[in-house]
Amino acid sequence: MRDMPITIHHHYSLREHNTFGMDVKAKQFISYKTVDELVEVLAALRDCGERILHIGGGSNLLFTRDFDGTILHSDIKFIEEMYRDDQHIFFRVGAGVVWDDFCAQMARDDYYGTENLSYIPGEVGASAIQNIGAYGVEVESIIHEVETVAVATGQPRVFQVKECEYGYRDSIFKHRLKGEYIVTAVVYKLSLIPVFHLDYGPLREFNSRGVKPSAQAIRDAVIDIRRSKLPEPSEKGSAGSFFKNPVVPVEVYQHIAASYADVPHYVVDDRHIKIPAAWLIEQCGWKGKRHGGAAVYDKQPLILVNECQATPGDIMELASLIQQSVFNKFHIQLEPEVNYI
Ligand code: EPU
Repeated sequence: MRDMPITIHHHYSLREHNTFGMDVKAKQFISYKTVDELVEVLAALRDCGERILHIGGGSNLLFTRDFDGTILHSDIKFIEEMYRDDQHIFFRVGAGVVWDDFCAQMARDDYYGTENLSYIPGEVGASAIQNIGAYGVEVESIIHEVETVAVATGQPRVFQVKECEYGYRDSIFKHRLKGEYIVTAVVYKLSLIPVFHLDYGPLREFNSRGVKPSAQAIRDAVIDIRRSKLPEPSEKGSAGSFFKNPVVPVEVYQHIAASYADVPHYVVDDRHIKIPAAWLIEQCGWKGKRHGGAAVYDKQPLILVNECQATPGDIMELASLIQQSVFNKFHIQLEPEVNYI
């Protein structure tokens, strides 16, 4: 690895690379700028049998201890228009682009598809792995294809959106092919014709105004909502929603509704109901509660925050106490959305 033209950091603090702000160390940290560099790095790491973890903006991770291996990070940054037809415009975007920088450009140019997903922390590569979603839209709806490199061979492979097996905060890259491919670029398909998703509470107002909003107006509204509900990443460390919203059998929902007539819920299908984890956590009295340096965010209890120099242990313990009390009260097992490393 010595003669590679890229910088390798040793015993490197990951504090700036995880939004929780955990000050853990990695044995090595490598940021690469091109696919060729990535392939070269992978070959070298393979030769020495190194443990590898690829991260994006670190907005969905909880480092539980120092990482005894190499952290890879994409610095592949470009946003290029590929082609357009009467209705759509296709953009190829490097995996290292900050997701919201891409959203800002799309809204500014009046292309539709990213505006509801504005201001989500993280990078483009992770958007395609995590199937990020907010305010009635999931990113799979605008993904056309995902360009990757295989970790084991360095060979490129393009996944069509159907092959990515997208689900709620889920994809093939989180299960069957976990750790096997690194996303290098994503091709998004934006709409030239306004398409609106305004069913989510505060966005509904746009429907009653009688004037069609621009992508920029929706983006601005989404940013306002997120700022009012979610901690400002620069001020308080968090990883967004800590748990997934549980999908439960109808009977479980009915049992809860018998005691709590106003339990919020969304019908998933004939037999399943989604219940907001935030509601379950609030009912258990956790809103605003602290545990060591960690706390349950007072405006949105689905979010655990690094209130004051929290250790990974503080956050893990708090998460597990919340899981226990939700289970004891409602017989629902909350599943973390955040990945423990
Ligand atoms: N709620 C409460 N108490 C609260 C806040 C919320 O009971 O203090 C209940 C309310 O019934 C509310 C419901 O929870 O209607 C849903 O709350 P919210 O609209 O804030 O959304 P969420 O379901 O908690 C999900 C995503 C967020 C995304 C929002 C908006 C997950 C795990 N989280 O949260 O995504 O921004 O919807 O679409 O699906 C993330 O993934 O990191 C994330 C922030």
